[in-house]
Amino acid sequence: MAVLPGGVQARVVVAYDLAQRLAAGNDVSRNADHWPGFRDGSLAVDGVLRQWAGPRNALNAEGEEHARLRAPIQAGLTPRRVREMTPVIETIVEEALNDLEILAADPGIVDLVPAFALRIPQQVVTRLMGVPSSRMGQFGRAATGLFDTSAGPADMQRSMDTVLALLGEMVAARRTRLGDDLVSDLIRAAGQGNDPLSDEELLAQLMLVVIAATETTVHAIGTLIVHLLTQPAQRALVVSGEASLEDALDESLRLQPPAASVPLRFAVRDFDDAASGQTFRKGEPILIHTAAAGIDPSVHTAPGVYDVRRPTRRKHLAFGHGPHVCPGAPLARREVIIAVSRWLNRFPKARLAADTQQLPQPPSFIANGFTKIPVRLG
Ligand code: HEM
Repeated sequence: MAVLPGGVQARVVVAYDLAQRLAAGNDVSRNADHWPGFRDGSLAVDGVLRQWAGPRNALNAEGEEHARLRAPIQAGLTPRRVREMTPVIETIVEEALNDLEILAADPGIVDLVPAFALRIPQQVVTRLMGVPSSRMGQFGRAATGLFDTSAGPADMQRSMDTVLALLGEMVAARRTRLGDDLVSDLIRAAGQGNDPLSDEELLAQLMLVVIAATETTVHAIGTLIVHLLTQPAQRALVVSGEASLEDALDESLRLQPPAASVPLRFAVRDFDDAASGQTFRKGEPILIHTAAAGIDPSVHTAPGVYDVRRPTRRKHLAFGHGPHVCPGAPLARREVIIAVSRWLNRFPKARLAADTQQLPQPPSFIANGFTKIPVRLG
C-alpha cells in the first residue's frame, strides 16, 4: 500500500507476473468511473492524480470506449509513419549534434537534457503533429511548460491552455485541408465509423500524445546515455558490436524505465489472483509499479546490475502491457536509437561531469530519469 499525493491510498503491484496479468485482464480498469466518489467529487482528489485520471482520453478508457479513442491515435502511428519520420529524426538529431559540437569547442560543461535529450522528442512531436513553422517556437515553449515541475498552478494552466489552443487551431485548419501529419490522420480516422470523435475528444487524444511522447522519450535517451557513460565495459560491448544498442536500450528501460508508474487502475469487482494469493476489493486504486517490476528478483538475477547481454533484458513493462501498451513505442525506439548511436559516434570521449548519485531526478513517482546530465564532450 502506498500513500499517493492528496493522501490517496493505492495498492502497489511490484511483481512482474502479477502486473502483466492485471494489465492484460478484465478485473481492473483505467476508467476512474470505477473509483467511488471520484466523478461526483465526494472523494477529495486533486493535483496530479486528478490531472491523470480525469481526462476522457485513451489512457483512461476501457473496452469499446478505449478502442474508439485509441484507434485514431494508432492510425497516426503506423509502421509507415515511423519509416517516414526516420529521415526527419535523423535531421533533427544531426542539427542538435552540430549545435553540441559548437558548445564542445568551448571546454565547458554541457547539460545534455535541454541541449539534446529533450530537444529531440520535442522537435519530433512538433514535426509529427505538423505544427506550422510560424507556431513551432510557441508550441515548443508551451509543451516544455507542461513538464516544468517547478511551475506554479497558474503557469501550468497557461501552458496547458496554450497547447490546447494551438492544437485547436491545427484541428480547425486541417478540417478544411487535410495533410500528411498525425493531426490529419486522427481527423481522418476519427471521422470513420458511426460514432465519430468530437473536436473536444480529438483535442484530448492529441494532448495525450504530446504528453506521452515527450516526457518519456527525454528520459529514455538521457538514462541510456548515463548508463553507457558510467559503465565503460558495457559501452565497449556496444561499440564493438558484441551487443546491440537495442539490447542496451532494453536493459536501460528495464532497470530505469522513463515512467516509474503510470497512474492509476481500479478493481472493477472483488477478485482473487490465485497465482499470487492476493485479494483485491472493488473500487480499490491500484498502481502498477513499472520500475519495481523491472527489477523483480524472481525474473532477473542480480536485477540491479546493468548488463546489456542479460538474457531477460526484454522482460520489462516500460511500454506497458495489454490493451494500453504504448502505441508510440516503435517511434520512440527509433528516436532513441538514432539519437544515442549518432551521439556515441560524434562524442566518443564524452564523460559525465558529476557523480551519478548526484544527478538530479524528477520529483515525481511517474517521471523517472535525470533532469540534468552535465557532461564534458571533448
Ligand atoms: C520511451 C518513450 C516512451 C515510453 C517509455 C512510453 C511508455 C508508455 C506507457 C508505460 C504507457 C501506458 C501503458 C499502460 O497503461 O499499460 C504508454 C501509453 C501511451 N503512449 Fe507511450 N511511451 C513512450 C513514447 C511514446 C510516444 C513517442 C508516443 C506517441 C507519439 C506515445 C503515446 C502513447 C499513448 C497515446 C498512450 C496511451 C495508450 C492507451 O492507453 O491505449 N508514447 N506509453
